[in-house]
Amino acid sequence: MNDVSCLAEPLTLPCGAVVKNRILKSAMSEVLGTPSHAPQPGMANVYRTWAQGGLGVAVTGNVMIDRRALGEPGNVVIEDERDLAALQDWASAGTEGGCQLWMQLNHPGKQAPKFLNTETVAPSAIGFGKALSTAFGVPRELTETEIEALIVRYGTAASVAKKAGFSGVQIHGAHGYLVSQFLSPRHNQRQDGWGGSLDNRARFVREVYRSIRDAVGPNMPVSIKMNSADFQKGGFDEDDSMTVMTWLEEAGIDLIEVSGGTYEAPAMAGMVKRSTSEREGYFLDFVGKAKERLSVLLCITGGFRTPAGMVQARQEGAEMVGLARTLCIQPGFPNQVLAGEDVVSGVKRLSTGVKAVDRIATLEVTWYENQLARMASGKAPNPRMGAWSSFATTAARMGLQSFRMRRAK
Ligand SMILES: Cc1cc2nc3c(=O)[nH]c(=O)nc-3n(C[C@H](O)[C@H](O)[C@H](O)COP(=O)(O)O)c2cc1C
Repeated sequence: MNDVSCLAEPLTLPCGAVVKNRILKSAMSEVLGTPSHAPQPGMANVYRTWAQGGLGVAVTGNVMIDRRALGEPGNVVIEDERDLAALQDWASAGTEGGCQLWMQLNHPGKQAPKFLNTETVAPSAIGFGKALSTAFGVPRELTETEIEALIVRYGTAASVAKKAGFSGVQIHGAHGYLVSQFLSPRHNQRQDGWGGSLDNRARFVREVYRSIRDAVGPNMPVSIKMNSADFQKGGFDEDDSMTVMTWLEEAGIDLIEVSGGTYEAPAMAGMVKRSTSEREGYFLDFVGKAKERLSVLLCITGGFRTPAGMVQARQEGAEMVGLARTLCIQPGFPNQVLAGEDVVSGVKRLSTGVKAVDRIATLEVTWYENQLARMASGKAPNPRMGAWSSFATTAARMGLQSFRMRRAK
């Protein structure tokens, strides 16, 4: 039996909401949206299964705030109340047993694939390097009026989430999407009040937070997932990250989920530094350092595979521990951890054995999406699903366009 009492304790957030334990399901894009970007009915099955699995918080996959800017086929989009009934079904299933369900809100900025979008926008008109430029176009620089309209959109989506019965919202501020592009001096080279100094680069995220907080009121959890660093030359670094976290703490954010990386440097999936990816908790060092400077509540996500690793994260100062891929194959993992069982995550590197196919198939993403599709249709996940079989399933389920390069994570 493991002593996991530090994972079982309830947590009171600054807004007053109480989370029943310290395990958070991190956002995973489900690609379970209908062609008009409403949640499919199967979404409720997936989230009911997760709620029953013992989580304190489940964060949804990224929900887009603008249908002109999609990250993947099958994204859910919220611009108004047109899909309220479907959102209510999702919320009521995902909050069973007192699980908190937080909707992650996102705009991809320039990480919006060409085949899905007619035009992409970003803080600055800076394209990606060679490896990603065939999939992602050079963006157009946002005007100030457009920036202000996007900030309003985050608030609108948050108020619809609240009305539908979601318990909280999370800003996707990590992984190189729009908020993260604004924060990065490499991707944001604006000369106006939205670029330049860190204070200016962080203005967008602070305004997004304010817009959401105004929309949902003081008692609903508002969180952000943020990069500890971008792991890119000239990008958002650890010092910047801690400073922005201080500002968000002062502004009243309830919890910061720590991750890292972008499509160009996928640290969030453990694909950057070998020494880091080989142990549990890719961003553990950062959390230790951050806790010396900040008192904001932190959740750490990335690489956790055992109860011992999760307990260590709590001992290093993280108030919550996030899990993603494990929950696609072991949705009952939190209950097993909390029962003190010696459970180990079955997550492993996936490969068809042919590098080119692995790359085209974005296997690390599509294999997990196929597990979610099984859960959506009422089946249990199949951890033994082979890489080739996943490739065929994706082709049959979503067509060949799903293999076009879209996301790293
Ligand atoms: C299929 C898939 C989709 C993902 N979608 C998102 C997303 O929408 N938003 C997000 O913040 N992170 C997303 N991630 C990243 C995870 O939340 C998490 O940060 C990462 O997988 C590392 O955690 P893990 O080692 O427990 O899987 C996704 C990961 C996977 C595998």
